[in-house]
Amino acid sequence: MSIHIFVPNRRRFLRQAACTAALFTTPGLFAELIKTPKQTEGPFYPDKLPLDTDNDLLVINDASTPSLGDITYVSGRVLDGRGDPLRNAVVEIWQCDNNGAYLHSGTSNKDKKDKNFQGFGRFVTGSSGEYLFRTIKPVAYPGRTPHIHYKVKRGGKELLVTQLYIKGHPGNEKDGIWKNLKAGPERDSVTVEFAPLKGAKAGELAAQFDLVLGVTPAA
Ligand SMILES: [Fe+2]
Repeated sequence: MSIHIFVPNRRRFLRQAACTAALFTTPGLFAELIKTPKQTEGPFYPDKLPLDTDNDLLVINDASTPSLGDITYVSGRVLDGRGDPLRNAVVEIWQCDNNGAYLHSGTSNKDKKDKNFQGFGRFVTGSSGEYLFRTIKPVAYPGRTPHIHYKVKRGGKELLVTQLYIKGHPGNEKDGIWKNLKAGPERDSVTVEFAPLKGAKAGELAAQFDLVLGVTPAA
């Protein structure tokens, strides 16, 4: 008798569990979670970190002269493989200045270097997984379409290295590293709009970029 009761109940439970799983895995029912593709670190991760490594790349320490370029706020969330926000993630970005020079001894355009651009910044996420940087809209340098390099670390472990691109930039189609990304959701996930920031008086731009890690690290 107890078996008769148990079996239908269990069957119903399994059916419900299957439906729930289908909800989370069927594309289109919920926004699909695209794992952020890995991209090469490239040769220009700073070989000597700047004295200031905060999330404002426009101003080094208390300097009074800001860097050249189109002011841009880049922000987003760091999510784990389940789509949950990841706290205590260290988000690092680095990019060349408005004249195409990196914060690296081997950079090209060294003679034109913008000494007021920080070139590198860090942000540690809180419980919402959000990060924010104030920087410049990336520019092209010989051989590359504009991009911002990203690295995500947690507890000293490197979790992701990737690059962010400008949606609609004509250089993307000629860039070997961008073209290596699979056309469709993979490319789209790292190619975002740099749009005017609503209400901004000085023409500032904003770009939104979520980083979805393929791993679910232990808390
Ligand atoms: Fe680069």
